Amino acid sequence: MLGAGAMGTALATRLLRAGHPVTVWNRTPGRSAALVDAGAAEAATVAEAVTHHDLVVACLFRFPSVLETLDPVVAQLRGRTLVNLTTTTPGEARELASWAEAHDVEYLDGAVLAVPEMIGSREAQIFYSGSRAAYGAHEGLLATWGTSTFEGTDAGMASLVDLAMLSAMYQMFAGFFHGAAMVGSEGMPAAEFAARTSPFISAMAGAFAHYAQVIDGGDYTVPGQQSLEFSDLSHIVRASDEQGVNASTLAAVQALVARQVAAGHGKEGLARVYESLRPRW
Ligand SMILES: NC(=O)c1ccc[n+]([C@@H]2O[C@H](COP(=O)([O-])OP(=O)(O)OC[C@H]3O[C@@H](n4cnc5c(N)ncnc54)[C@H](OP(=O)(O)O)[C@@H]3O)[C@@H](O)[C@H]2O)c1
Repeated sequence: MLGAGAMGTALATRLLRAGHPVTVWNRTPGRSAALVDAGAAEAATVAEAVTHHDLVVACLFRFPSVLETLDPVVAQLRGRTLVNLTTTTPGEARELASWAEAHDVEYLDGAVLAVPEMIGSREAQIFYSGSRAAYGAHEGLLATWGTSTFEGTDAGMASLVDLAMLSAMYQMFAGFFHGAAMVGSEGMPAAEFAARTSPFISAMAGAFAHYAQVIDGGDYTVPGQQSLEFSDLSHIVRASDEQGVNASTLAAVQALVARQVAAGHGKEGLARVYESLRPRW
């Protein structure tokens, strides 16, 4: 296990509990003490760490830290399997996969959709993509961390699915923060807004499946949808402006709606916003 940060420690702890031998390396010495107490061996150098086992797991910081750490020891990695659980973009994951292939390293990219406390529970989701052989060979070990899904042999897919889900989450949170600031401008506590908004948003999430059906079907004229004209949000943007609250998150959504209306699709369903976002593939 390369990296004894919060996530690396949670992953290694789980492996030790499941009876797997673990050797840990961390850039800053001393951070692995808890893992060593739990039974891990500590390696003084990356080169030493990667030669102890056929399976090497990296859980570092961002993309540059992975190459910075592993490129100098690529000769020792040859013939082994690398599972990279460091968050990367899809493009970065593909770059790592090409680098690994060029050096005869079996590469499996992983994206962790969980916080460290969830590791070891079924609720922790980890997506994998890249080497199918590596996924198949280590499926049992990977399952000790949570619910694993193999997303295919394109190494970028795990990251893409993970970051798409996080994108949905952060934009939902931004919506909550904006609404809280609107009512907060007149003194309503965020706690009250949260208690009242949470059940409403949960109910609205039920609409995802319907929107998905429309998007996948590609026909935004299917009857029974809220139209884009009806979805004009300028009154909400104005309300926010009147209260002196930054409306930029909502204005961004309004711009996506307006683009489709301007292109003559006002009578079609709200899901057509998807067309404002997607590239012309
Ligand atoms: N924590 C979460 O909730 C969570 C959830 C999903 C995914 N992740 C991903 O898991 C990865 C690790 O996150 P974390 O929560 O464990 O972060 P963390 O607690 O900040 O630990 C970061 C780890 O990366 C190491 N590191 C940073 N830069 C490095 C470099 N240039 N070279 C070598 N090692 C370097 C750090 O070593 P030092 O001790 O020497 O600084 C430390 O071991 C990240 O990619 C993160 O996005 C985390």
